[in-house]
Amino acid sequence: MTPPGSLLTARDLRKAYGPTTALDGADFSVHPGEVVAVMGPSGSGKSTLLHCLAGIVTPDSGSITYDGRELTAMNDARRSALRRTDFGFVFQFGQLVPELTCAENVALPLRLNGTPRKEAAATALDFMRRLEVDDLAAKRPGEVSGGQGQRVAVARALVTTPRVLFADEPTGALDSLNGERVMELLTEAARATHAAVVLVTHEARVAAYSDREIVVRDGRSRDMERAV
Ligand SMILES: Nc1ncnc2c1ncn2[C@@H]1O[C@H](COP(=O)(O)OP(=O)(O)O)[C@@H](O)[C@H]1O
Ligand SMILES: [Mg+2]
Repeated sequence: MTPPGSLLTARDLRKAYGPTTALDGADFSVHPGEVVAVMGPSGSGKSTLLHCLAGIVTPDSGSITYDGRELTAMNDARRSALRRTDFGFVFQFGQLVPELTCAENVALPLRLNGTPRKEAAATALDFMRRLEVDDLAAKRPGEVSGGQGQRVAVARALVTTPRVLFADEPTGALDSLNGERVMELLTEAARATHAAVVLVTHEARVAAYSDREIVVRDGRSRDMERAV
C-alpha cells in the first residue's frame, strides 16, 4: 500500500549481487517537495536503494510506485523517459562534461529534451544564479573548485525542474564549509522548485538539511526515530 500523499514509494525491495545481499527488504517513501536523508554506514545498501528508486537498477523483488505507476513494470524506454523528464541526479563527483563550459553543462539536459538553444541558455543562467555560480558560466569544469563544480552539477540536475532530485553523497568530496554551502543552496533551490529530494549521505551534518531521516543497515531501512 502507498502511504497517502506519497510521490515515490518502495516496499520490501530485495537485490543481490551474486552472493552479496545489497537490499534485504527495504522500504521507502517520499512526499512531493519533501527532503529525505538516507543514512547508514558504507556498504549498507544506500546507493543500491537510490538506484532502484530512480529506475537505474531493477530490484530482484519488491514494488516501487512513482506517481501512482509501478516503476518495475515499465519497459526500459519508458523508464529512461521518466528519468529524463521527472528525475534529476547529483553524484559525489559532479560528472560535468569537461569539454563544455559550465553554462553549457547546465543547459545540456534541456538541449537533450529539445529546448531551443536561447531558451535553454536563459533557464540555465537562472539556475546558475540560484546556486550562485552564474559568474562561472564561461569557465570549464577544470577551472572551478570542487564546491563550485558541485553547485554547477546541482544547477544541471534541477534545470529541468524534476519532481525528484536524487543526490548520492553530493558533498562527499568536499570540506565541511563547502559541503554545507552546497547543501544550503541545494535544499533552497529544491524547495523553490517543489522538488522532492532523496539525499544519500553518511554524514549527520549533511542529513540535518533534511525534513526526515531514514537509516539503512544491512539492506534494511528504518525511520530514524525507530532506529535508535
Ligand atoms: N554493481 C555491484 N556489483 C556487486 N556488488 C555490488 C554492486 N553494487 C553494490 N554492491 C554491493 O552491495 C552492497 C551495498 O552496496 P551500496 O548500495 O553501494 O552501499 P552504500 O551506498 O551504502 O555504501 C555492498 O556490499 C556492495 O559491495
Ligand atoms: Mg554509496
